This record gives sequence, C-alpha cells and structure tokens, in this order.
Amino acid sequence: MLKELNQQIQEETYSSYIYLAMAAWLEENGYKGMATWMRVQAREEKIHADIFYNFIMERGEHVKLEAIDAPPDSWESPLELFKAALAHEEHITGRINHMVGVALDVKDHATYQMLQWFVEEQVEEEANVGEAVQQLTIVGKDGRGVLMIDREMSARVYAVPTSAPWYPKSGQPAA
Ligand SMILES: [Fe+2]
Ligand SMILES: [Fe+2]
Repeated sequence: MLKELNQQIQEETYSSYIYLAMAAWLEENGYKGMATWMRVQAREEKIHADIFYNFIMERGEHVKLEAIDAPPDSWESPLELFKAALAHEEHITGRINHMVGVALDVKDHATYQMLQWFVEEQVEEEANVGEAVQQLTIVGKDGRGVLMIDREMSARVYAVPTSAPWYPKSGQPAA
C-alpha cells in the first residue's frame, strides 16, 4: 500500500508537470484563457501530491520520491491538447481505483477512506476536462468559437481545497 501511495505522489506531480507544459503551449500560441485554466489545474495537482505526502507522514511511514518524466511540449491544437488531458485524467482515475482495490485487499481502512475524496474528485476532474473537449469539438476550426471558449476559461481561479483530507495538516503551508 505504501508503495502505491508513494507512486501516487509521483503520478500527481507528473500531472502537475504535464498541465504546466500544456499551459505553456497554450500561452505561447495565444490561448491565454485556457493557459490560465491549465495553470490552476497544475496547482491543484500539486496539492493532490501534497495530500498523499501528508497522509504518508500522518501514518508515520516513509516518503520515497520517484523520478518525474519530462512531459511533451507541443500539441496539434487546443482540442488535441484537452483530449490528451482527458486521457491522462482517465489514467489517474484508473490509478485511484486500483489503490482502492489494494486498500480493500489489505484491509487498510484509513487509506480506503482517504481515497474516497479522490474517487469523487476524479468524477469532477473528468467532467471538467470532458466539457472542454466537448465545447472545442462543437466549435471545430471556427477561430471565433475557440476564442470565446478561451475567454470563458480565463475565469477559473485557484481555490484551496479545504474539504480535502490531510490538507493543510502536517505543516502544509496554506496556498
Ligand atoms: Fe490529481
Ligand atoms: Fe487531475
């Protein structure tokens, strides 16, 4: 279980890293609103990694950080980029579900309970990214439509996940 929790620090940190790469590509290509949205997303993922870190500490276990791969640095279009983000979230959902299975197998009820927050969070994550994919698909190559979506997505602001378990315990600085 501990190995899985440590691996998840890596997975969530990589999520943060790939979304930062996506934010950079979006900003470089003139989609500033979507870039803002992605930077908020990247920040949320960093918090997810912190939650797993805090949880391991709280249990008196050992944090072992793994290597983080370099993410891609270019995508064909905003639509292809958000499709890649959705595929990534689906991968993370698979990871969370896998960990829930392990927690049940080894009867680790505390971890099982902590993971429930992530089970819910993943439903929201897939819905949010899925909505962007859907809207970008609708407008297709219509530049004005894409810029309207870009403007709408610029409104996203970072909010501290106060409902999250193990945040901001264990000396986690407030965002
Ligand atoms: Fe996450
Ligand atoms: Fe996520």
